[in-house]
Amino acid sequence: MEQLLQQIAQYRQEIESTVANGAESMEAYRIRFLGTKGIVKSLFSEMRHVPADLKKEFGQVLNEFKQLAETKYENWKQTAALSEESGSEKPDWTLPGQPVAVGTRHPISLVKNQIVHIFGRLGFSVAEGPEIEDDWHNFTALNLPENHPARDMQDTFYIHQNPDWLLRTHTSSVQARVMETQKPPIRIICPGRVYRNETISARAHCFFHQTEGLYVDENVSFADLKQTLYFFVQEMFGQEVKIRFRPSYFPFTEPSAEMDITCRICNGTGCNVCKHTGWVEILGSGMVHPNMLENFGIDSNKYTGFAFGMGVERICQLKYRINDLRLYSQNDVRFLKQFTGAR
Ligand code: DAH
Repeated sequence: MEQLLQQIAQYRQEIESTVANGAESMEAYRIRFLGTKGIVKSLFSEMRHVPADLKKEFGQVLNEFKQLAETKYENWKQTAALSEESGSEKPDWTLPGQPVAVGTRHPISLVKNQIVHIFGRLGFSVAEGPEIEDDWHNFTALNLPENHPARDMQDTFYIHQNPDWLLRTHTSSVQARVMETQKPPIRIICPGRVYRNETISARAHCFFHQTEGLYVDENVSFADLKQTLYFFVQEMFGQEVKIRFRPSYFPFTEPSAEMDITCRICNGTGCNVCKHTGWVEILGSGMVHPNMLENFGIDSNKYTGFAFGMGVERICQLKYRINDLRLYSQNDVRFLKQFTGAR
């Protein structure tokens, strides 16, 4: 019995170290171990000489051995079949490589990253907030109490008819979230997706992207706002681009202004995009309303701030001459693959 077990152990080693080298050696292996007069069969016939009380244990060893011998052979057969399928056993290193399809970034992401990068150089860091918002962060905290007529400026999607839950209509909601938790100096840029209940057309969509900016500190003035945005525009569109401010109204800023830049499509000579004025609006802005600061326990006698919110699609339109908003979300590869850029 002891001798038999030793013999089996030796055979196991032999099997494990055997390397198949073509069809002939595979066949030789099969005959030696698995053939009708092979080792596995003859070991099984030893069973009759094993004492009854050891039969079970020996049977188990034998079965495991048989399995090993068979698996090894089956594996060889499979590999051999595969290499036969591919025509030869050795790969052809001279074949040309398969090109790897590399995607491109979405134009909205490209422009968004560029905006974040430009403001990053001025010390603004990125802040984000949820797309599903509550009334407080989207409206009330921004000096838009219930029944304020300016709420109608944006058609809101409410969730489950619950007036407290909505899809944020602007990234200004992130201002509220940041002021809730941080104290001045605050210098943040908040890119993100926003939603409005609009009929989809070339000029309007039910979702789009904005980037909000907020700067609160001591002695922040309208001159800082102007210079910051002027720097941004020149970095984004080039040194020759001009800016102009028009007085406007937003409940969260006082005074408020909309900012136009020289139309990048016609360089100011007049076209459809700028409605022949030579100017296009790219953002809303203003000095943060003292009520807003006070809503978050920030002393409005000590601190002032400016804020702005720009539409990313609009900036993208001027940069890449895309005049149909629907193109951004149709996932047409012919459109998407035109945009390349490191960021
Ligand atoms: N939230 C405004 C909108 O969606 C844009 C805006 C205007 C943001 C003025 C601001 C701001 O931060 O100060 O139309």
